[in-house]
Amino acid sequence: MSSFYALVIGAGSTIAQASIQKLEANQHCLGVFAVSRHLPKASSDTKTLWLASDYTEDSIHQICKRLAVYSGKITKVLICNGMLHDASMMPERKLEEIRASQLEAIFHVNTVIPMLWLSKLLPIVQGEKPTQVALFSARIGSISDNKTGGWYSYRASKAALNMLIQTSSVEYARRAKNVKLIAFHPGTTDTPLSKPFQRSVPKEKLFAADFVATQLLAIMDSATMDNKAAYLDWNNQPIEW
Ligand SMILES: NC(=O)c1ccc[n+]([C@@H]2O[C@H](COP(=O)([O-])OP(=O)(O)OC[C@H]3O[C@@H](n4cnc5c(N)ncnc54)[C@H](OP(=O)(O)O)[C@@H]3O)[C@@H](O)[C@H]2O)c1
Repeated sequence: MSSFYALVIGAGSTIAQASIQKLEANQHCLGVFAVSRHLPKASSDTKTLWLASDYTEDSIHQICKRLAVYSGKITKVLICNGMLHDASMMPERKLEEIRASQLEAIFHVNTVIPMLWLSKLLPIVQGEKPTQVALFSARIGSISDNKTGGWYSYRASKAALNMLIQTSSVEYARRAKNVKLIAFHPGTTDTPLSKPFQRSVPKEKLFAADFVATQLLAIMDSATMDNKAAYLDWNNQPIEW
């Protein structure tokens, strides 16, 4: 493997943090750019440069300008942002619970922010080196695999993200042939995002972030560079779109 730089967006995510630790320990990784709304108070990471962002278009543009000198050298990108609930909202179980404010807030984090990055990162990932961009989706975003319904905002925001990834992959195939886009489903992972729903998950099906990070980085390393978007789970198994 040749040396590379990595970019981790939404680096405050529990799975992102575990991925950064793996990248820190990877001798081929020359450096990690970690983008988050909140910078860590103290960090023992030696290779990681933290960059603060509020994920506005301007902020994303400024960070991409800063990263421009690494164009063609950043060959692993993880876009981890995602929201399922917060203090004021939980996933909708029935039609009566639909609120415009919830749909808009969830779509903004899960769909709009990752797409802004995908749009602005094109010149940075364009190049000769095989490059993988993993965007955190979820199996629940599969339109063909929707048997249980519910969770309207989250489900639809991830389905919309998947469509944007597919659509971008058509243009990336023309303009950045070295790039593979991956819509990634981590499986139910022990993080604040899944916390309120973990009781119904059998122990062996609730993954540690460390395990998921190992799986994801291995999936990225072995990805088929075919100019097509892939929708993959933590076990490298394809999911129907
Ligand atoms: N955990 C699971 O069981 C599970 C299952 C399927 C899919 N996923 C997906 O995996 C990804 C990582 O989630 P996680 O489980 O590691 O959750 P987490 O620890 O709660 O991380 C949340 C992530 O979302 C970002 N975020 C949260 N609120 C935001 C807001 N208002 N504006 C912008 N960014 C915001 C955070 O970015 P900052 O660094 O800027 O704070 C962070 O990257 C998400 O996309 C999630 O949908 C998780």
